[in-house]
Amino acid sequence: MTMQVNRTRAWQALASHYDAMQNVHMKALFAQDPARFEKFSLRFGDLLLDYSKNRITEETRDLLLDLARDRDVESWRDRMFSGERINITEDRAVLHVALRNRSNRPIRVDGEDVMPAVNGVLERMAAFTRKVRSGEWTGHTGKRIRHVVNIGIGGSDLGPVMVCEALRPYGHEDLTMHFVSNVDGAHMGQTLERVDPESTLFIIASKTFTTQETLTNARTARDWLVRHAGDEAAVAKHFVAVSTNRQGVAAFGIDPEHMFSFWDWVGGRYSLWSAIGLPIALYVGMERFEALLEGAHAMDEHFRSAPLESNLPVILALLGVWYVDFFGAGSHAILPYDQCLHRFPAYLQQADMESNGKSVDRQGRSVGYDTGPVIWGEPGTNGQHAFYQLIHQGTRLIPCDFLAPCESHYPLGDHHHILLSNFFAQTEALMRGRTLEEVRAEMLGAGADPDQVARVAPHRVFEGNRPSNSLLFRRLDPHTLGSLIALYEHKIFVQSVIWGVNAYDQWGVELGKQLARAILPELDSEAPVDAHDASTNGLINHYRRMTGC
Ligand code: F6P
Repeated sequence: MTMQVNRTRAWQALASHYDAMQNVHMKALFAQDPARFEKFSLRFGDLLLDYSKNRITEETRDLLLDLARDRDVESWRDRMFSGERINITEDRAVLHVALRNRSNRPIRVDGEDVMPAVNGVLERMAAFTRKVRSGEWTGHTGKRIRHVVNIGIGGSDLGPVMVCEALRPYGHEDLTMHFVSNVDGAHMGQTLERVDPESTLFIIASKTFTTQETLTNARTARDWLVRHAGDEAAVAKHFVAVSTNRQGVAAFGIDPEHMFSFWDWVGGRYSLWSAIGLPIALYVGMERFEALLEGAHAMDEHFRSAPLESNLPVILALLGVWYVDFFGAGSHAILPYDQCLHRFPAYLQQADMESNGKSVDRQGRSVGYDTGPVIWGEPGTNGQHAFYQLIHQGTRLIPCDFLAPCESHYPLGDHHHILLSNFFAQTEALMRGRTLEEVRAEMLGAGADPDQVARVAPHRVFEGNRPSNSLLFRRLDPHTLGSLIALYEHKIFVQSVIWGVNAYDQWGVELGKQLARAILPELDSEAPVDAHDASTNGLINHYRRMTGC
């Protein structure tokens, strides 16, 4: 049995090192070493990762790298890429990297190369995308498709919606994309108000094709379409499916001819590279979808071959472990200074929290240390006027990732300079802080009277020493976006290896689903509900009274 990570020598060495580091201020580290930026930054194509504003020294980095070696990160990485069934609780390989394997080198699952099947689906996607985008594919009355409604949830929604938003500058001008995920009727209802039945294509995206929310939304959409068309046959021109479940798709009434497949070795939250990315391909075109795949593949190659010390995903992962397990950081903020990335934090929430939100290790033992943090964030500069107060002056340590393009797709006046000056200023302020003496001097210099200075100055002190990573890239194009997403995927993987958890199952979402299935019929039952605890019974019965059930 593998030793739990917190019992290893490498971990103990980090724990002792933490004792020495916990009160070291980054300001002092920068003052001591003018080469700190060069020592703690990495380049990948036109992506720059500056991780010098972290509470680390070269010794910290060495000790973290020792931990990675001790946990066999490299051999786990190779096991993933070679198609081993590392998702042990579901007995599945984990091969989202095969979906973007632009080298086309064989990747085998149970001896069979998956690349011909991957390429086959990409070809079908390309042909369909071309037809829809050119207007060759029409609705049942002959009108071209102008609205695409993706119906899916979790990984069958968050990736496509995030990427379509991020690549909006590349979007087809005659196609409007809609994403319906929530089973709340408001989501579907509001969407149907905005689309026209004759020119709308619905994509039903569900890996399992059993997800209650997606199937409910899909049925509502189909009923709406058939009601308007007055003809069941219209479904064939307005519905396609993306799934691993051919039978489920057929049972729903979508011809498997109009289904795009993927495979059980693609995790839902890692699936945007598969046919789940169909809305992306429709919106930005297949060539740009392929550029997205190429960007991810480039990051895969870097992850596979770069030494650990210059490996971007490995470095980000180790820094995360350093804060979660030694500084007790419970959350991690993702702060894109790019409005087009406004759904990136939400996307990473699922990618990271559904993967590493685990408290049992691969051997089924309770972990005695913290694993995945809460991932959250909003684009800058909006976040600055909302929650940055707590990041700067609150009692919790919140490591942050700042991301920004050097060039904007929307070069309006001096907007981009203003945006980026805020990015740089925030990372500087978080690192440097402001001492009481500095505050006093500034206030007195501005003419404040000494009583006021004594009263207010403590409130204006920033302790600083708050860590951040900065990621700068030239432009948010499909290739760069692909690399960025893959960077985070691999970061999550490396952390899972260090914590010894399986990042590729998600049993934690099941209990609520089961209970909801049991409760649904109770909402219409005759007698008052008494099968649950007093709170749940009380809530259900109150709801029934309010709705007259
Ligand atoms: O409920 C969690 C989950 O299983 C996610 O992992 C997944 O991305 C989502 O539901 C949707 O699942 P499906 O694509 O099978 O509808």
